[in-house]
Amino acid sequence: MSDGRGAKDKLIVALDVETAAEAREVFAALRDSAEMFKIGPHLFTSAGPEIVREIVAAGGRVFLDLKFHDIPAVVAAAGREAARLGVSLFTVHAAGGAEMLGRVAESVADTAGREGSERPRVLGVTVLTSADDATLAETGVGCGVGEQVARLAALADASGLDGCIASPHEIALVRRTVTRPGFLVVTPGVRPRTAAHDDQRRVMTPEQAVLAGADYVVVGRAILKAPDRARAAREIVEEMEAVSSEQ
Ligand code: C5P
Repeated sequence: MSDGRGAKDKLIVALDVETAAEAREVFAALRDSAEMFKIGPHLFTSAGPEIVREIVAAGGRVFLDLKFHDIPAVVAAAGREAARLGVSLFTVHAAGGAEMLGRVAESVADTAGREGSERPRVLGVTVLTSADDATLAETGVGCGVGEQVARLAALADASGLDGCIASPHEIALVRRTVTRPGFLVVTPGVRPRTAAHDDQRRVMTPEQAVLAGADYVVVGRAILKAPDRARAAREIVEEMEAVSSEQ
């Protein structure tokens, strides 16, 4: 692929399961088929940081998607602990503002430097894919989703974050807004070609998202609910490979 990374390196599997036992099972089945495993508020609240430590100790890479949003000192402290857990990526809400974002970026860099560990990449959540213009208006944001995504992606970049989360339809906008090489775009809300579409909304496949400029795509249910999870993951990687080799 053009950035030198293989398609498998771009797949993040969402561990959207309830228990540590299920998470272990998914990790064991998919550790060779995906680059990283995303742990969100559901699994983290049920299984705790131990499941993160366990996957990292077993050689897996973890994307801790807890979307921190609090006063700068608290988010900086949470970022320090994420670095100590050994996660590769974690999220904060870019809407927390420049001071919150700058402080967490600084605390993660300090912690990794002092403790000699890998520095986790910090990603800013722009606008949740479940939100629309009306949702933004409810919370006092007067502009539309596109403008807000662009503003928050630029803020994340200017505040020292490593990248952002953007829905498939905002990848191109983010790339136009933030042109710094290396700024990561991580994209959830994709539907593999092989998976049944569960609604009529316009969706992008993982390969379309990668072509649009995503560094990583996050896939959960299309893999977790498949009868053969490893096969479902391999098919997604093959689809991404096929498209990139056509370029
Ligand atoms: O839809 P799927 O099960 O693949 O979702 C995987 C992850 O992507 C979820 O954990 C969720 O955080 C995120 N997601 C999202 N927007 C969507 C669907 C999922 O942000 N429309």
